[in-house]
Amino acid sequence: MTSTARAILIAAGGGWNQDEWVTPVSAAAGDRPVYAWPDVADPASVGYALVWKPPVGIFAGLPNLRIIFSLGAGVDALIFRDDLPANIPVVRIVDPDLTQRMTEWIVLQVLMHHRRQRAYDALQAERRWRPLRQSAAREVRVGVMGLGVFGRDAAAVLARLGFDVAGWGRSPAPSTVIRTYHGAAELDAFLARTDILVCLLPLTSETRGVLDLALFRKLARGGPLRAPVLINAGRGGLQVEADIIAALDAGVLAGASLDVFETEPLPATSPLWSRSDVIVTPHVAAASAAAALVPGIIRQIDAFERGEPLQNVVDRQRGY
Ligand code: NDP
Ligand code: OXD
Repeated sequence: MTSTARAILIAAGGGWNQDEWVTPVSAAAGDRPVYAWPDVADPASVGYALVWKPPVGIFAGLPNLRIIFSLGAGVDALIFRDDLPANIPVVRIVDPDLTQRMTEWIVLQVLMHHRRQRAYDALQAERRWRPLRQSAAREVRVGVMGLGVFGRDAAAVLARLGFDVAGWGRSPAPSTVIRTYHGAAELDAFLARTDILVCLLPLTSETRGVLDLALFRKLARGGPLRAPVLINAGRGGLQVEADIIAALDAGVLAGASLDVFETEPLPATSPLWSRSDVIVTPHVAAASAAAALVPGIIRQIDAFERGEPLQNVVDRQRGY
């Protein structure tokens, strides 16, 4: 029998503030009951689960679940779980608010390196007035790995700022704004023309550990920065942190901006914390803001109940 369960369950773990979601979801849910984990008065009535790193085994207790909504854009922590029901669609967040936040962070980091802000911070600390050589944005080749929702937006804004932008993804993504590359066969050509590498890939079995020393060595030499720069806001599992440090020490990389880490929170013992050539932020590039994202989730539920197709359904085979 097809389920008609309509209650909404919110289960946000992993350090997220679950309470933040309850008020906006309750305000937008209409006549649907809203439960906040673990207070689920009637599990059989739950049709929709809004989750971020929910407790293991949670789905088994929800016999009439119809859709799982990931409260984040990245689904690597959810999609590979053994307890994820096989036949229920997983929908991820795609929302202009989240995209705008990510683009802000990427643009900030590109400009921090391009405009040599860390060097000026050091000069300011010494009260020294010393103008440094400044290249034009058009002389700096930015390469965006992952031309999805975030990658495309960040690339377009960086191109608008005048940077020489290219992008690389899995499948062809022709663009009138930037030059695009795709697939393993075109990766080296993409890297060879890249001074600032921006990584916005999802974490999958194919992409794990892709940001390693061998890849850094393939980046452009002779660009306007002392050496290439790495910016990663995708996932920490994409990067090999020992290789980033080795590359910085050897001058293979001139700097890095990292929002994501192999282990989060980044352990206090990590050498990344104390390096002046590394900018560390605590996985905040594009934080999910409940008030901004809930209306889009409820619109999807409304559309689904009218019989319309779901948007942004995760492809479990691809893993993103
Ligand atoms: P999308 O799914 O829209 O885009 C992913 C892109 O990566 C696509 O262009 C895809 O190619 C490409 N890709 C996937 N696998 C490969 C591969 N093996 N080789 C080459 N390209 C590949 O994702 P979003 O842009 O919405 O988000 C990207 C990631 O950002 C999320 O998965 C998440 O990990 C991270 N994120 C980080 C946050 C933070 O605060 N730091 C916040 C939110 C998300 P194709 O187009 O061919 O499918
Ligand atoms: C996400 C994240 O995937 O916050 O949305 O990392």
